[in-house]
Amino acid sequence: MPDGSKQAGTADLGQVVADIAAEMAARTDRGEVATYIPQLARVDPARFGLCVTTRDGTVHTGGDADVPFSIQSISKVFTLTIALGLVGDALWRKVGREPSGDPFNSIVQLEHEHGKPRNPFINAGAIAVTDAILAGHQPRETLGEILRFMRHLADDETISIDEDVARSEKATGFRNAALANFMRAHGVVENPVEHTLGVYFHHCAIAMTCRQLAMASRFLAFGGRDPASGHSIVSAERARRINALMLTCGHYDGSGDFAFRVGLPGKSGVGGGIIAVVPNVASIAVWSPGLDKVGNSRLGTIALERLARAMGWSIF
Ligand code: DON
Repeated sequence: MPDGSKQAGTADLGQVVADIAAEMAARTDRGEVATYIPQLARVDPARFGLCVTTRDGTVHTGGDADVPFSIQSISKVFTLTIALGLVGDALWRKVGREPSGDPFNSIVQLEHEHGKPRNPFINAGAIAVTDAILAGHQPRETLGEILRFMRHLADDETISIDEDVARSEKATGFRNAALANFMRAHGVVENPVEHTLGVYFHHCAIAMTCRQLAMASRFLAFGGRDPASGHSIVSAERARRINALMLTCGHYDGSGDFAFRVGLPGKSGVGGGIIAVVPNVASIAVWSPGLDKVGNSRLGTIALERLARAMGWSIF
């Protein structure tokens, strides 16, 4: 596995995290919070959290690192991990592995590409992945499985779903319903559409803190294993491949810009969170609710840029 610290300098990580949190707290150019549901529209845009975990288990936090927020599309990394564990490479018959270059909720490509979404991180792809996990089970069981996985990874039993967010996602999720129905017509979605969407809306509504997300991402940074216990979550090869998808598709039509600026695999959500991994070195979670024009956290991206530069972290 490539060593993400190739150019590592001697910077003090704890100090760098503290400095970035202080700088971000003072900035006023915070972007716009998501407004499609009231629960996201009323989040305080002044929030900023950062958490970095390293191989030896050291955890550095800054700002609001222990305040829960809506993880939204970050959940798609973990549902992809579960789906690959369940069906393996057969998943790629239903979902592609190419960046879309279109907004996360776009429907245009589906019509030209037989209902097969471009990748697992756009909404259509994530709905298809959720459908693969559901596989005839009751939505409640599948959701329980997703939540147990998150709690296990983060080693934190308090992680839960924000039911208000889930209800609002359902009440406003007309585009997602269109995507799911279109894929059902092509046989890509196989379960009742309302079951698949119900699970999708709920996993987007999981609330977690930066600390919990950074902990939950450790297996991606450390060759598929929890470096503390040595327990394997996925194979090293699978972790590498999930990281490759995060790099190429994790920020939708902003993925190229994120790779250019940050140089690390990462996944964003419209709640303003981003996870990122430095292979063999660190897992990172950042949160700032204000978004840029493609729906990625504005200050979160800037904070990751600063962190990567200060520490000499890049996969390139
Ligand atoms: O389905 C949706 O549109 C939202 N629940 C999640 C979208 C999202 O997080 C896109 N991320 N930047």
